[in-house]
Amino acid sequence: MAPLAQTAVLAEIPPHAAYLFFSLKNPQQLIACLQKLGEFCIEHNALLGIGPALIQNPALKSALQHRNFKNQDIHYQNTDLLIWLRANDPGEIYWQSATITELLADTFTLQHNQPAFCYQDGRDLSGYEDGTENPVDADAQAAAIIAQGPLAGSSFFIVQRWLHQLAAFKKQPQSVQDNIIGRRLSDNEELDDAPESAHVKRTAQESFTPEIFMLRRSMPWATDNNAGLMFTAFVTDVSKFERMLARMTGEEDGIQDALFSFSSIQSTGYFWCPARHNNKLDFSPCGIIQ
Ligand code: HEM
Repeated sequence: MAPLAQTAVLAEIPPHAAYLFFSLKNPQQLIACLQKLGEFCIEHNALLGIGPALIQNPALKSALQHRNFKNQDIHYQNTDLLIWLRANDPGEIYWQSATITELLADTFTLQHNQPAFCYQDGRDLSGYEDGTENPVDADAQAAAIIAQGPLAGSSFFIVQRWLHQLAAFKKQPQSVQDNIIGRRLSDNEELDDAPESAHVKRTAQESFTPEIFMLRRSMPWATDNNAGLMFTAFVTDVSKFERMLARMTGEEDGIQDALFSFSSIQSTGYFWCPARHNNKLDFSPCGIIQ
């Protein structure tokens, strides 16, 4: 049977989620531990991603390397393992987090548990619809899942935490807010006369040569005092994300994405998400000795 992607790759955004970031504590039994975790993830439609430090295969490891950006620190964090939990209610997320943390206790330490949620059918907390120009069906598959070769069925997953200054953003006239995004809040129409700094002008997927398509699955997060977006995207090559981010940061033409006027990057991580083969996650491309 041909390898398939993990179900979370093409699934819609769930009502509730959590991103669990783990670091390796004890490499003994690593593969056995990952296999058990893989079974849990398949059963619960959670996503499992592996960070560069756990990967021995030099080609795959280097495919996860990050570059530096001239105008922005992306606060890259070398995380060993990521689990994206997805459920209908926060109680389910709690129980899944507790079960996983116990399952991994001998091998991994939980570094951070970041809850997230779906706001108004998929809006960012600024109020703007997020995901409108996402590719769909076969195009989504092509953007998110490697089609051929030894990595067929796997994906790269970008996880970037953004912190918003929402009070200041919302105090601005509606037309200024719309020009920051490049779409009208009231009807989500793209603004033809938006400034070059508008987010959708910076990121227009077809404006790159070659074109850059990615499958975004971002979710808002909020605590007592802070709020923002867990920007996440599946790509077949990390450099696609980096080329787009380079333009957002003004490396191409000195124009920075207007998003930076109210939001900032707090952390970035890159992960490789193994394919499913015979209903098991296939860790063999990692090159970890069993
Ligand atoms: C604070 C963080 C961000 C927010 C609030 C945000 C929000 C949005 C919104 C509201 C849209 C318009 C609707 C849509 O097509 O989805 C959009 C489009 C888009 N964003 Fe973001 N975004 C963020 C970060 C990023 C980053 C880091 C990237 C990639 C480097 C990115 C890539 C894209 C792409 C590819 C589009 C579609 C552009 C097109 O082809 O029209 N976004 N984003």
